[in-house]
Amino acid sequence: MANWKTYDKGDELPEEYKKLLLNLMSFQADSEYAGAQRVAENMRFAPRPEEAYRLSKKVMEEMGHGYYVWNLMSDLGVDVNARLRELVTNPNNPDPQKVTVINGFRKENWSKLFECWEDVALFSTVVTPAAVAFLGQYRECSYLPWARVNVRIHKEEYGHLAFGVWASKRCIEFGGEETREFMQKRIEKFMKVGLGFYGRPSKPGDKQSAMFDKYYEYGIKVKKPEELQEEYLELLESRLKEVGLDMPQGVEADYDMRVGYEAADLDIQVSKAAV
Ligand SMILES: [Fe+2]
Repeated sequence: MANWKTYDKGDELPEEYKKLLLNLMSFQADSEYAGAQRVAENMRFAPRPEEAYRLSKKVMEEMGHGYYVWNLMSDLGVDVNARLRELVTNPNNPDPQKVTVINGFRKENWSKLFECWEDVALFSTVVTPAAVAFLGQYRECSYLPWARVNVRIHKEEYGHLAFGVWASKRCIEFGGEETREFMQKRIEKFMKVGLGFYGRPSKPGDKQSAMFDKYYEYGIKVKKPEELQEEYLELLESRLKEVGLDMPQGVEADYDMRVGYEAADLDIQVSKAAV
């Protein structure tokens, strides 16, 4: 970790480094905002005022995560207003040429996962720990402004995990053993998404592995998918236990939900003034 050259605000960035950095930052910022839009749609399942209030806090914080990272991209010359405008004017189908939203946060994929408030509670219990692990690594990345912003984001994501545990416990408190069994059966579909969140463990020699090595060399990604998976499963098991649910065994990852993070040749347009 200490081997990476670090950069701070205003430092000149090597061209390739800047391109890779903006690729990951844009996926984070655009997906955080689209995630907020999806979470807001889940409000229709809220069973009680306290649940509605806490869910709206999560929406606000996710929009904040998009906002913080867009601010950093703006410092690097990216027209972030155009990205926001695309998301707010086409929330159901934003143009992939204009914004980079992970598949799981696109409406057509997301909406299939949610049928009831129990699903909303389970998402924050079962998928959020993957986001905590994945985004947590950026706290140690070589671009210091982004690392600092992710310290704050990570704290709030931990809060969203706490929201999930709280909401899941409440479902069982109000619905009893029948609800617990209902929820137990629904863990797997979310765990597939969680397991796929940080990407496939890379095999030496494949294209994805070559890409990962570049990110890793520059200190833009600091953990291997295997390490993130271990963190995820540990966190997930402890939270499920807290709720009174069991961790399903032998669940296969769904990697299609996070397509995009590996894309090699994204060219984020940077304004002339900032180059
Ligand atoms: Fe977030």
